[in-house]
Amino acid sequence: MQTIELGRTGTQVSRLALGAMQMGNATSEPDSIRILDRYTEVGGSFIDTADCYEWWAKRDSRGGESEELLGRWLRAGNRREQVFLATKGSALPHYSPDLWAADGTPDWELARRTFAGAGAKTLRDALDGSLRRLGTDHVDLYYIHVDDKGTPLEETLEALAGLVAAGKIRYLGWSNVRTWRLERIRGLCERNGWPLPVAIQQQHSYLRPKAGLESASIVGAEQLDYLRDHDDQTLVAYSPILKGVYASAAKRTGHWMMANYAGPDAGARIAAVEEVAAEAGVTPNQLVLAWLMHQTGPRVLPLIGPRTTQQFEEALPALDVKLTGEQLDRLDAAGA
Ligand SMILES: NC(=O)c1ccc[n+]([C@@H]2O[C@H](COP(=O)([O-])OP(=O)(O)OC[C@H]3O[C@@H](n4cnc5c(N)ncnc54)[C@H](OP(=O)(O)O)[C@@H]3O)[C@@H](O)[C@H]2O)c1
Repeated sequence: MQTIELGRTGTQVSRLALGAMQMGNATSEPDSIRILDRYTEVGGSFIDTADCYEWWAKRDSRGGESEELLGRWLRAGNRREQVFLATKGSALPHYSPDLWAADGTPDWELARRTFAGAGAKTLRDALDGSLRRLGTDHVDLYYIHVDDKGTPLEETLEALAGLVAAGKIRYLGWSNVRTWRLERIRGLCERNGWPLPVAIQQQHSYLRPKAGLESASIVGAEQLDYLRDHDDQTLVAYSPILKGVYASAAKRTGHWMMANYAGPDAGARIAAVEEVAAEAGVTPNQLVLAWLMHQTGPRVLPLIGPRTTQQFEEALPALDVKLTGEQLDRLDAAGA
C-alpha cells in the first residue's frame, strides 16, 4: 500500500487508515481479525481506535472493547512493531445506567455532558488504561478525541508533552476541533516548546456540510483553508464515505448521516459521483475514497470503518483508481 508522510514528521503511514471502532461489537472478533489480517497483508499499517469504543453499542459497556480486541490481535501475532497505532482519550462518558434508554438507545446528550475531558490527571489515567488494554508501552499517535473547552489548553498540552517525554506517546493529534482552537494550540506549543499535534481527525468526505451548519467535527471551507496553509498537520478524514450513503439512494434515504448534508448541493455532488464512478468502472464509495486520496491542498488521509470483511474488500480497489484532471475538475465544480 502507498504511504503518506504524517504532518512533516518524516514518518510514513499507510495511505488508508483502518478504524477499529466497531471491532468487538457490531463486528465480531473473528471478522475483526480477518479484516485486521487482510489490512496488514495488503501493506496497511495505520490502525485507529479510542478508549471509548464502543460504549454506546451495548448497555452497561464501559467502552474499551475495541482496544482489548486489538491488544489480543497484536499479542497473538507479535505485531506491535508492524503497526502505527493510534488511540484517543477524553470522550469516555462517566458511567451511569442512564446512558441508555430502556430500549438500549444511547443518550448522547448525557454522554456529552459527562465526557471525561482533557484534564492532566484524566489523560494520564486514560492513557494508562489504553496502554494496558492494547498491551503495549506506547502508542504512535494519541488524540484528544473531543476538544475540551472546560480545561485550560495549557494544562492539556503540558500533560501531553509530559506523556511524549515519558515515551508513552510518539505523536499527538486532536479531533472534533474548531479552527480557532487549532491556531491557539499552535501558538501555545510554539511559545512553550510543547509538541504540536500532527494529525487532525475530523469528519470529512466529498459531500459538503449544508449551508449554515456549525460543527466542531465536520470540516468546512475555513478549516480546509487553514489546513492547506499548515501541512505540518495531516487531515485524517473519519467517516470518509459517510457510513456508505454514496452506495445507493436506498441507503441514503432517512439515514441520520444525511441530516448534515442533504440539500441541492448534496444532490448535485452525488450525481457527479455516480457519473464519474460509472466512467471509471468503480463503485461510488470507491470513487469518493479515491477523490479524497487525490486531494493535495490539504492532503487527506481517509480513515475507513468497515463493519464487514466484504465492506473492507470493497474499499481496497480505491487505492488503485487514477482520476484524470478533467474528472477531478468536474467533481470539484459539482454543486449548487
Ligand atoms: N474522531 C471521531 O470522533 C470519530 C468519529 C467516528 C469515527 N471515527 C473513526 O473513524 C473510523 C471510520 O469511521 P466510520 O465508521 O464512520 O467510517 P465509514 O467508513 O464512513 O462508515 C462505516 C460504515 O459504512 C458502511 N459501509 C462501509 N462499506 C460499505 C459499502 N461498501 N457499501 C455500503 N456501506 C458501506 C457500513 O455501514 P453499515 O454498518 O450500515 O453497513 C459501515 O458501518 C472509525 O472506525 C473510527 O476509528 C472517529
